Amino acid sequence: MKVFYFSGTGNSFYVAKKIAAANPQSEIISIPRFLKENKKRLENDEIVIVSPLYFYGIAPVVLRFLEELEFENIRYFSAIFTAEFPNGLAINELKKICRQKGIPLNSCAYIKMPTNYVIKSKLLEPASIEPALLLADKKIEKLARIIKNRGAYLEKDRRIYAFITSAEKYHQQWQLDFPQFDAKFLCTEACTSCKLCEKSCPVGNITVTQQAHWEGHCAACLRCLNICPQKAIQYTHATEDKGRYFNPRVRIKELS
Ligand SMILES: Cc1cc2nc3c(=O)[nH]c(=O)nc-3n(C[C@H](O)[C@H](O)[C@H](O)COP(=O)(O)O)c2cc1C
Ligand code: SF4
Ligand code: SF4
Repeated sequence: MKVFYFSGTGNSFYVAKKIAAANPQSEIISIPRFLKENKKRLENDEIVIVSPLYFYGIAPVVLRFLEELEFENIRYFSAIFTAEFPNGLAINELKKICRQKGIPLNSCAYIKMPTNYVIKSKLLEPASIEPALLLADKKIEKLARIIKNRGAYLEKDRRIYAFITSAEKYHQQWQLDFPQFDAKFLCTEACTSCKLCEKSCPVGNITVTQQAHWEGHCAACLRCLNICPQKAIQYTHATEDKGRYFNPRVRIKELS
């Protein structure tokens, strides 16, 4: 089994690791790295993808992975989206892609995790993070058992119509704005040129000279902003007085 993940701040990687641990002989693969290697095809495989939810939908880098790759004889396919609010458009988007590409959608779920969206969301207080992860563990373990047995699970859609229409508009606007996402990053004088952000960016979108510079092909994962040890990275001035989030059960070096 191949467990593909995209993760900015560790939540989705944490889930991917647990799913892989419950499935002997599985392999964990970073989606950005896989795309960088220019791989074009997956065949005769069992696949799990784990990714954060972005603006109610599938993160653009994961969408690219699903749309660009050829899938042939996929024997089992499961998707898990980690999110602050485990609800959205992603499962419907995924059902459509799977239909078009002839991929079976055996299981699909959301898992509630602490948010990393410092720009607008209220981050959890440090004391609330561990209880939130313990709660997430219960659902991860349930899904790991289902996937181990190659079972079926489709998350119930609890959305009301008003939510669906407003979420769709929000998501469409985000898709339009996404190519300019990194234009609003700022690097302040607190930067020590340590290059942690440059080394850690999953898509190689940062160059550090005296300060960090963004190159216009960001995946919007907010890892750079959340991990900078000097809090030198801001997203407009809106993030200046806010905290930062990185999954405490993951080490930055584990991610790619
Ligand atoms: C650009 C962006 C958009 C997001 N949009 C949503 C959203 O629409 N709904 C939600 O519940 N969480 C949203 N989040 C929060 C993340 O989905 C959530 O914290 C996720 O678990 C992060 O996973 P990661 O640590 O693997 O990156 C967003 C985060 C980012 C960076
Ligand atoms: S991680 Fe922060 S301090 Fe280090 S180079 Fe990047 S912006 Fe500067
Ligand atoms: S520039 Fe920052 S937000 Fe964009 S992909 Fe790299 S680490 Fe993520």
